This record gives sequence, structure tokens and C-alpha cells, in this order.
Amino acid sequence: MAHYYMEPSRTFSEFLLVPNLTTKACNPSNVTLKTPIVKFKKGEQPAYSLNIPFSSAVMQAVSDDRMAVALARSGGISFIFGSQSVEGQAAMVRKAKSYKAGFVVSRSNLTPGHTLKDVLELKERTGHSTVAITSDGSANGKLLGIVTGRDYRISRDSLSKQVSDFMTPFEKLIYGKSGITLSEANDLIWDHKLNCLPVVDAENNLDYLVFRKDYDEHKENPSELLDANKSYVVGAGINTKDYEERVPALVAAGADVLVIDSSDGYSEWQQSTIQFVKSNFDVKIGAGNVVDREGFLYLVEAGADFIKVGIGGGSICITREQKGIGRGQASALIEVAAARDEYFEQTGIYVPICSDGGIVHDYHITLALAMGADFVMMGRYFARFDESPTRKLKVGNNFVKEFWGEGSNRARNWERYDTGGKAGLMFEEGVDSYVPYAGSLHENLSKTIHKIKSTMCNCGSLTIAELQKNARITLVSATSIVEGGAHDVILKENSITGE
Ligand code: IMP
Repeated sequence: MAHYYMEPSRTFSEFLLVPNLTTKACNPSNVTLKTPIVKFKKGEQPAYSLNIPFSSAVMQAVSDDRMAVALARSGGISFIFGSQSVEGQAAMVRKAKSYKAGFVVSRSNLTPGHTLKDVLELKERTGHSTVAITSDGSANGKLLGIVTGRDYRISRDSLSKQVSDFMTPFEKLIYGKSGITLSEANDLIWDHKLNCLPVVDAENNLDYLVFRKDYDEHKENPSELLDANKSYVVGAGINTKDYEERVPALVAAGADVLVIDSSDGYSEWQQSTIQFVKSNFDVKIGAGNVVDREGFLYLVEAGADFIKVGIGGGSICITREQKGIGRGQASALIEVAAARDEYFEQTGIYVPICSDGGIVHDYHITLALAMGADFVMMGRYFARFDESPTRKLKVGNNFVKEFWGEGSNRARNWERYDTGGKAGLMFEEGVDSYVPYAGSLHENLSKTIHKIKSTMCNCGSLTIAELQKNARITLVSATSIVEGGAHDVILKENSITGE
């Protein structure tokens, strides 16, 4: 006989948080949202943590290199979409990784034997006015000098002048040594009124350039998520079909964390994929999606570093309608979180879980965290911003951005839905849609984060772990949901409506 879950499965909107005592120390500025993203042993630190519990969905309409940089700058992680060629995805990862926060790998380089004409042509091509002069013209060659606009005057007969004749030579440069911190670099920049500080290693090979303007930008983003080389942490989605080809390219491009992107992850295909990755590469890999204890344990035993939870709750998702599979996101999360805690108790290994899909209001994020999620993944939320890779259009009087599901005919990401059947017999599990345009990621994220921190204070919690431990969550009746919005009043035009 079939197994029945006789309790209805629930969504976030059916729950509310009941406040706990707010102590005077419970101030949003004291709240930290740092959270693990990969598994770790009790008493040890995870190899990767996020500074905010946000990841952007593995979707064509959401996560490219631009989104990856913008989100890492704010402290979260993007998983660059895998429904593209291996080369295309690896190039996006490489591009996002090559952004150094504050420290820039020099992109305009020449040798002393080049001419002023070469300098001007390079400047025209790259738009960079600072050119590093190295022994071999490479970004990491021995630094021999720097050329900026202040070093030359353009006249008809100056074009053939050799760089060595007008560059500021190394002996006259102010430079930093490898290992210098960004704030020490900034002190040198200010003390010597520089626009750019070269940083060299013990043999005077060029490591990085630090620009005055990049430092200012870096200071505005104290939560940015960096690896040991001061590059942004970048994730990438993979599938269970072409991983033998895709994973080596992504690892070579510098991807830090991979995730198997699939609508139903409780499968032997995922087990084989995880095992291949774990036995060939030193890279972290998440798996999913699952909606219950069995699915969670199966993927954990297979070696996954984190588990993604959610089937059928995504805003563009029609999986439940098409196939009749899925589970209310809150119910799925509550069961998987309990399995995760039990597994931790038994083994001393903590496996983070990610609540993926179905976040509509900002408070849903706080609820997901309270219910045990370590971080959330969102598509619709990020698709609305300037940084998403889709077109901004005007529909009627409103600006919108395009947003389509990975299972729509537009994305044709059939690998995500593959259950081993014959290609060509596919059907859609997602729609093509618009979302209201909402402006910049930074501005929106700041508001959402402030709301989460403020709610955590209401719940007497300064960390996500405390929230998970202390939260009191109540089911709400259909009638009290009505009570939760503005009711029995006549709304004025332009009044605030929700999120
Ligand atoms: P959202 O945050 O509610 O927009 O949900 C985003 C999530 O929906 C993604 O992270 C995926 O797990 C899921 N998803 C993406 N594309 C599709 C689709 O075409 N069909 C079903 N689910 C999808």
C-alpha cells in the first residue's frame, strides 16, 4: 500500500514567528548573518561560509558573471548557470574570478622596448590609462616601470619614442610588497598622493595594482566574499549528464563551489556525479533538490557538501501541475532540517541545507532560516535587478525584466529534468514570464537584510544558529492571514503595499 502523509504540506505564508524577549544587546547592528555553505566537523570551521545567507539561482535569467560579482560583493554567492556550452560557462566563471576586490591583476602591460604609439593604441583598446612596464610585457613579469598620462606629451615626432625613455622607472616608484593589506596599500596611496600602487613579490615581479577608486568601492562593501587570493567566491551549476567534461573546465576556471542542478535530486545519477567529482577534484559540491529525510540522507551518504531543498515551489515552476510531484516548501524544509540535526548529533558532521525556491516576501527568508535553512536560493528575487542578465522592458506603464524557468521551452535545460529517458520526449516544467523591475541589487539587498536582522532581534537572536535554536513558529489560519495585511481601511493612493 502506498505511504500517505495525511498532514497537508505547508508553505511559508502559513507560518509566523512569535517574538521572544528582545534584550538591549539585540540591535540589528549586532546581528551577524554569517552562515556555513559546506559541511564541516564539529569544532572545525567550514571551508566556505557566506556573509549573508543568499545564493542566486542556477538560471539563465539570473546568474551570470555580472550577478556573481555583484552578489559576492555583498557577501553571498551566485551559481553561474550551466545550461550553456562548457566553454561559455567556464569563461563566465573565469571572468568573475578575475575581479580582485581592491587588488587588480594588471590588464594593460608593455615592455620598455615598445613605443608611445603602442601605449596610445593600448589605451584606446582597453580604456586603461595606467600601463605596467614589465620585462616580458606580461601581467606578472619583472616590474620595470609605470606609464600614466602624466609621463608623455603627444606630438608628431614623439610617437616613435621608446617607453624606456619616458616611463617612471622602478627605482622612482612607490610600491608595496606582496602580503600588504588593502588598508596599508591605501595608506601609501594617500601618503604619496598616488592614483595607483603596484604590489610586487620578493623578486620584484608584478603581483597586483591597487587603484584609489577600487579601494573606496571596497570600503563600501565590508561583507564581500573573498577567497584566499582576494578573488570573489564563485559557484557554478552542473548536471548529471556531461559532468566528466564540464567539471574539469569549471575547476580550471576557478569555480569554488559546484551544485548539481536538478528538479529531483533523489537519484542514482546524482550519486554517480558526486562520486566522480569527489574522486577526481578538490572542489566542493552541493546536490539536490530533495524534500524529505530519505533524499537528504541519500545525497549526504553519496558525499555531498550541502543539500538543496525544494520541489515545485519556484515562481516560474509548473512541475507540480505537469507531474504531480513536490511538497510544500515549509514542510519539506522542516523535515530535512530535522534529518540534518539528527545526522549532526550522530556523526558530528554538519551538512548545511539551502531552501531553494518559493521565497515571495522578505520575511519568508527569515522563516526559512528559523526553520533550519543555512541559506536560501532565489531566482525571482534576483531576476528583478539591474545585474540580472535579461532585458529590461516597458510593459504598459511599468518597467519589467524578463524571467524564464530552466524547464521552459526558452531555456531548454532538459538535463535538469532528466530521469534517464530518451531526449526529445521532453515537456515543459517552467514558464517564460516578466518580473517587476526593482533597481539595483545593492539597494534592495540592504533593505531585505535590514528586515531580516530586525526580525531576528524581535526573536531575541543575534546569529542564524541562535534563531534556529530559539525561534517559536506558529501556524496561522486562513482568517488570520487576512488579518495580517491592511484590512478594513480605505487605502490612499501610493500607500505602501507589502514587501
Ligand atoms: P524562485 O526563487 O521562486 O523564482 O525559484 C527559483 C528556483 O526555481 C530555482 O532555484 C530552481 O530550483 C527552480 N526552477 C528554475 N527553473 C525552473 C523551471 O523551469 N521549472 C521548475 N523549477 C524551476
